[in-house]
Amino acid sequence: MAKWLVAYASMTGNTEEIAELIVEGITASGHETDLKSVTDFNAAEVLNYDGFMIGVYTWGDGELPDEFLDFYEELDELDLNGKRAAVFGSGDTSYEQFCGAVDLTAEKLKERGAEVSPEKLKIEYSPLEQEKETCRDFGRRFVTAGAEVS
Ligand SMILES: Cc1cc2nc3c(=O)[nH]c(=O)nc-3n(C[C@H](O)[C@H](O)[C@H](O)COP(=O)(O)O)c2cc1C
Repeated sequence: MAKWLVAYASMTGNTEEIAELIVEGITASGHETDLKSVTDFNAAEVLNYDGFMIGVYTWGDGELPDEFLDFYEELDELDLNGKRAAVFGSGDTSYEQFCGAVDLTAEKLKERGAEVSPEKLKIEYSPLEQEKETCRDFGRRFVTAGAEVS
């Protein structure tokens, strides 16, 4: 069975909540996944998985959060060809670059050769009741369908 990883950076818990809902969707479709905080592992561990989903909130002015920087920089050492990936995160639409860190991360993963899903999941703060199913579905579709490669 394919091995999946959901990893996230979250300061106030919103991105973590999205990650947990994504895991629910993956589990409900009969797949197994690990759920980890990016602060707890080295980016090279993603090589142990067939596909991984990375969650990151946005800081500063469309920037990556500090605790995500080690992970992001470690990606520069990796060849991600043949790996599937998707990116999600929480942000605030009152900022000019809504969920800018999601876009930066997707670009970095593409640069390293990953097949990144063109669909990114961007949620304002924590998911509203009606957005929870969207989060579960994002996980479900990632593991059950081939990712469209952009
Ligand atoms: C100082 C600061 C800067 C922020 N900058 C942005 C930004 O540029 N774009 C954005 O979409 N959200 C921005 N946010 C909003 C956070 O990304 C948002 O609160 C998010 O839900 C936090 O996620 P977390 O609960 O996973 O930590 C900023 C928040 C703070 C406090």
